[in-house]
Amino acid sequence: MLLIGSDHAGFALKKVLIEELERRGVAYTDVGAFSGEAVDYPNIAAKVARAVAAGEAERGILVCGTGIGMSMAANKVQGIRAAVCHDVFSARMTRMHNDANILCMGERVIGPGLAVDVMNAFLDAAFEGGRHQRRVDLITELEKR
Ligand code: RB5
Repeated sequence: MLLIGSDHAGFALKKVLIEELERRGVAYTDVGAFSGEAVDYPNIAAKVARAVAAGEAERGILVCGTGIGMSMAANKVQGIRAAVCHDVFSARMTRMHNDANILCMGERVIGPGLAVDVMNAFLDAAFEGGRHQRRVDLITELEKR
């Protein structure tokens, strides 16, 4: 299961991404925002990040104006590796090498067509493990001290 959330600045792009999730038959829960009314992105990021960290959802997608605020907030939660990606290569590599569990995008940065491709690349790529696991473990260590 996947969790998807946005603030007001990412609301329209979230709708496009949800259409694609439905087309693909991917199970998801939309945690809001549910309108273009202004909301504070850290609250939405916290909902998605806490659920992913708790294992209640496998992955998350967060959309704001730039993707940056969402990623900053989500990465404060232990166990979260949120990546801002606006190209397909980065989205694939952050799954393969960083085992990213949340994808962040900015509606004011990327067009809807590319955003759908970026999300699909993120969803379809698998973590390679091996030497990358050691490096991800080192990131996890940083959370402890
Ligand atoms: C909202 O105006 C905007 O600041 C927010 O969506 C996001 O881009 C923050 O990083």
